[in-house]
This record gives sequence, structure tokens and C-alpha cells, in this order.
Amino acid sequence: MEIRDKTVVITGGASGIGLATARQFASSGANVVIGDIEEAPLNSAVSQLRSEGAKILGVRCDVSVESDVVGLRDAALSEFGGAHLIFNNAGVAAGPAIGTPKAVWDWVLRVNVDGVINGINAFVPHFLEQNEGHVINTGSLAGLGGVPGMGAYCASKFAVVGISETLFHELLLSGKNVGVSVLCPGFVRTRIHESYRNMPNQLKSYNEDPMVRSINEIATKVVNAGIDAADVATAIEHAVTTNQFWILTHERAALRTTEQRLEWMKGGPATGINLDGATQP
Ligand SMILES: NC(=O)c1ccc[n+]([C@@H]2O[C@H](COP(=O)([O-])OP(=O)(O)OC[C@H]3O[C@@H](n4cnc5c(N)ncnc54)[C@H](O)[C@@H]3O)[C@@H](O)[C@H]2O)c1
Repeated sequence: MEIRDKTVVITGGASGIGLATARQFASSGANVVIGDIEEAPLNSAVSQLRSEGAKILGVRCDVSVESDVVGLRDAALSEFGGAHLIFNNAGVAAGPAIGTPKAVWDWVLRVNVDGVINGINAFVPHFLEQNEGHVINTGSLAGLGGVPGMGAYCASKFAVVGISETLFHELLLSGKNVGVSVLCPGFVRTRIHESYRNMPNQLKSYNEDPMVRSINEIATKVVNAGIDAADVATAIEHAVTTNQFWILTHERAALRTTEQRLEWMKGGPATGINLDGATQP
């Protein structure tokens, strides 16, 4: 898909990978709509990108709420007269498989999985009708292999990879000019390790748990050692313009994780995410 003059909608666009991708697509001549739950960073991202020349709209949107995502699509249609790309990117991280309260699992799954489902339901029928469009879903290396301390996150990202693969096959069968990509990065320098900032207030005491604190300390180190979000944005634009499904910014780690998992299935040693190349590829 050519980017110029198309309308690109990005969830979680006020920070990190979403913000870098908004900047990337705006500089390629797209109209950009960013949705985010955090209003102050959303407003400052819009002002910043507008001052850089972007044609941009910001919409307050909680991706776990279906009507918010429908509202995001409708805002894009009314502001720019179209919608051609949905980047289902908003996400949060929390929760080992052992000892995480159900309400925290629910929060992670609602944002990371329901958010993607809501984006697909709001945008794909429109793309099919106009016979043009592209969906990008943000998975993770944690959607390709297990990692201790990240049970809820891994569950959500495995789901995103599964939904994306299924959507790929269904779109192929439809014969329409609508594509899908799944982004599975290793570590990227963003605010993902501070996801608790968007937790519902009644869950925030969970972050005082010593086990959760130590997981957050490790997460802070590896996220800060990761790649620049602008490099992810470049890979995303390339995938959209070449209609490529897998976006593996840390290809070595992604392929080794998958190969070792296959060996495990065939009776080899147990394995999780291969961390070789998971920060810097
Ligand atoms: N940073 C990494 O190392 C890494 C690696 C793999 C995958 N990811 C994924 O990348 C995506 C983007 O995260 P990031 O790393 O840029 O982190 P980030 O925290 O910098 O950005 C995430 C954005 O999502 C927004 N958000 C959170 N909950 C929301 C909700 N309910 N509705 C709408 N917006 C919401 C946040 O306000 C924030 O602006 C996430 O899906 C994350 O899981 C990140």
C-alpha cells in the first residue's frame, strides 16, 4: 500500500512505538489519527507532531471499550474522509503466571487482546468494502515463546499472534486488497515498563508486591537496553508498503525462539524466549 495521502490510525499513539510510527507515517505524507487513554501525553504528541508539519488528529480512546474504538474510526472518517490503516498497538505489561490476581490478568487481556479485536471489528469491514486497507497488530517476542514473570503478557501476545495469523488466511481467502502484519519486537526503549501508570486505580497496590517490584526492575533494565522506537517505525512502514506479514525487528531472537520451541516439541530441552539478540539485534 502507498502511504501518501492515506489515513493511518494508531492506538497507543501518545508514547513509544505508536508515537514513533505516527511520526514516520506523517513524514511520508499520511494523515494520522492517534488514539490513547492518556490525555496529557496525547495532547502534547499532537501539538509536537503538528509543529513538525503533520496532518494529525488526537482522540481520547480506551481500546478495551468497543464504542471508543468505533468512535476512533468515525473521527478518522469525519476528519480525513477515509481510513486505510489501523495499527492496533496500545498495550500494557504485567503479571507472572503464579500469584497474579485475576483482575490484573483481566486488565492486561482486555487492553492487549480486546483492544486488537475491537480494532479489527471497527476497521476491517470498512477496508473490505473499499477494497483497500492494512491492519498491523502489535505482538511481541513474548507471543512466540514463554518468559518467566510475564504470564498475562505472554497469554495476550500469543493471542495477538494467533488472531493475526487467522486474519491473514481469511483476508487471503476473501481475495480483497486488504493486508495484515504482526509486529513481534524484542525490547524497545519506551515506557512499557511503566505500564502500571494506566492501571485502574483499585489495582495499583499490586505494584507494591516485592515480586512485582523485582520483575519491574529487570524489565526497566532490558527495555532501556532495547532499540530505538524509530527503528521499529521504519520496519513497520517497510512491511506495509511491501505487504509483509511478519515484522521481526529482532529477527535472530525471534527465529531462535521459534526453532528451539520446535525442538522442545520434538522432545528436546525445554526453552522460552531466546534472549540472544532480544535487546540489540
Ligand atoms: N517496548 C518493548 O520492549 C515492547 C516489546 C514488544 C512489544 N511491545 C508492545 O508495543 C506496544 C506499544 O508499547 P510501547 O512499548 O510503545 O509502550 P508505551 O507504554 O511507551 O506506549 C503504550 C501506549 O499505549 C497507551 N495505552 C495503554 N493502555 C491503553 C488503553 N486501554 N487504551 C488506549 N491506549 C492505551 C499508553 O498510554 C501508551 O501511550 C504494546 O502493545 C507493547 O506490548 C513493546
